[in-house]
This record gives sequence, structure tokens and C-alpha cells, in this order.
Amino acid sequence: MQTQIGLDLDLAFKFINNQELVAIPTETVYGLAANALSIEAVSKIYQVKNRPQFNPLILHVANVTEMKKYVSHLPSKLEILIQKFSPGPLTVLLPKSELVSDLVTAGSSMVAIRIPNHTLTLDLLNRLDFPLAAPSANISGTVSPTSAEHVFEQLNGKIPYILNGGETSIGIESTIVGYDDRLDEITIHRLGGLSIEEMEAFLHEKIRVDIHHDQPTTPGQLKSHYATQTPLLVGNIDELIKDKYPKEIVIINYHKLKDYEVKKQFVLSNHDSSAEAAQNLFKIMREADKCQAQYIICEWAPEEHLGLAINDRLRKASFNKTQIKK
Ligand code: TXA
Ligand code: MG
Repeated sequence: MQTQIGLDLDLAFKFINNQELVAIPTETVYGLAANALSIEAVSKIYQVKNRPQFNPLILHVANVTEMKKYVSHLPSKLEILIQKFSPGPLTVLLPKSELVSDLVTAGSSMVAIRIPNHTLTLDLLNRLDFPLAAPSANISGTVSPTSAEHVFEQLNGKIPYILNGGETSIGIESTIVGYDDRLDEITIHRLGGLSIEEMEAFLHEKIRVDIHHDQPTTPGQLKSHYATQTPLLVGNIDELIKDKYPKEIVIINYHKLKDYEVKKQFVLSNHDSSAEAAQNLFKIMREADKCQAQYIICEWAPEEHLGLAINDRLRKASFNKTQIKK
């Protein structure tokens, strides 16, 4: 299969309607999209991504009216949050309606759903009369794609079309929130592109973070995520660099270059901004991975705003790798 990259919405529409997969741009990361109401199309997502079938998919819709068709009930507190932050990097986890298959939710009665903020994808969604199921458009367990080229590197020959919407503006996945009926409380299940601080300031209340359940249907099974080929060590650079031959090391700094002669250095944010660091994170992880170094060593982001979501990605990317040293 030849994979084309382009801006042709008619072609994307045609492939999606033929139950084929199309990579779509969003503001967070690129998605690998299929007709969410077609078992045939959704099955292809799991195959192409090599994704375990116990890991459910997010539905993408154009607006709140559409969203309401696929959930059994939208609590008013969540609706207010959605009205404020959508289209945008916010995914809500709610009881599904009958229209949503068990294949999409991996057997769960809950569905994750969001309104992505990208004009091309919103145009596409507005033309379709069904939602798109779309996980990040990477092979399962690897770094998420933030450009059409990233998608092409991994999925060339496996899907017919990549809708090219340029580099993604947010750069990390959406924040997933759930809702507790009894307490009328919102809980964060995955840290992401919408910060806790922004949501708390809007709701005037504290929000609980329960990221140990970011895979509620699959507790603990997918801790290793976003992995680079080169072992990634995260922590204090001076500490990590000790005992290692600097020529074989690539450094990912948060804010400033260090005074070391290593193979290569990257900076996540020249302006000390967590939004900028998030936007660059996956691109720089990919570039660092191509340097053929022995290790990539990386600093933690400050623990606030999008720094929390960045550190969550770094923690998962470095899972188990810290053991391989000295
Ligand atoms: O920003 C995003 O959310 C991107 C773009 C493409 O929209 N999508 C994305 O999808 O990150 P994915 O599949 O890479 O991550 C979705 C996460 C997974 O951790 C999955 O387990 C969780 O959402 N999830 C999806 N449906 C769920 C459900 N019904 N119950 C619990 N967790 C769910
Ligand atoms: Mg993913």
C-alpha cells in the first residue's frame, strides 16, 4: 500500500468512508482515525498500531451535540468544562451509549470522547455522520507523533493517507477526566495538554488526580510507554553523567545548555515555558533517539502546569531503563 501525505479532505473523507485508516492532525498529537461505528475499520487500528485489544480508544466528535449521542448522560459540571475548554485537549470519560461498540471501549461500559481543535480535522468530522475512533498514530509503546512526517516514518505502507496539518500546537496528549456522580467531582485520569491549574481556576475547586487509573480497564499493564530505542535516564544531569563517557551521551535539557562536551544537547524550552517544552518534547525525543548514543539523559520539568504532564511522559518513557547503568 502506498501512503500519501496531503491536504486533500475529499480523499481523507473517501478513505474513511471506505473503512480505511487515515492519520489526522489534532492540536495534541496525530491520531490514527477510523469510522468508530464500523467494527471492520476499528479492528484495523488495533492491527496497524499493534495495540493490545484491552486498551480502549478515544472517540473524536465535532461538537457537544454529537458528543451527547455517544454517552448515556453528560453531567452538567462536565458540560460546563467542555463548553469552556473544547475544542481542545480535554477528553471526558463517561458511560457509553448503545451506539458505541465494546471494541472501541475494550469491553468497558465507559467511553472516552473529545472535540479536537484542528480546523482540518474539524472539517472532516463535520462532513462525516459518525465519530472517529483515534489513538495516537504511532506503533504501540513508542513516542507519539507530532507531525505528518513522524507518522510517515512509522506507518508508511500501512495506511493509505496522512492528512497533513503541520506540527501540532500542544504536543502532548489530551487530559482525560472522569466524573464521580455521588460527589459531583471531577477526577483527572491522564495528565495532558490542559493543565490542572487552568481547570481548577475555572471551576474554583481542587481537582483530584488519579493517574494510577489512567488505564482503568487494564491496571498496571502499560507502564512502559513513549519509549525511545536508546535508553532514557531522567534526573539530575550532573549525577547522571557521572561514570559515563560523554561522547556517547545525548542530553535533553529543560531550559539551558549544560557545560558538557557530549554527543549532542537539546533544549525543551528556551523561554522556560512548559507549554513550549510540551510542544517540543516528542520531536526532541525522536531526534535524540536518532543520534546513536548509548544513553539519552534528560532533566525533569518543574512540577507545575504542563510540566506535570511532561514528567508523566518521561517517567513512562524511562520505565525500567534506569536499571541499565554503571
Ligand atoms: O490527545 C489525545 O488524546 C490523542 C489524540 C489523537 O486525540 N489520542 C490519544 O489516544 O492519546 P491514545 O489511544 O494514545 O490514548 C488514549 C488513552 C489510553 O490510555 C486509553 O487507555 C484511555 O485513553 N482510554 C480510552 N478509552 C478509555 C475508556 N473507555 N476507559 C478508560 N480509559 C480509556
Ligand atoms: Mg498513545
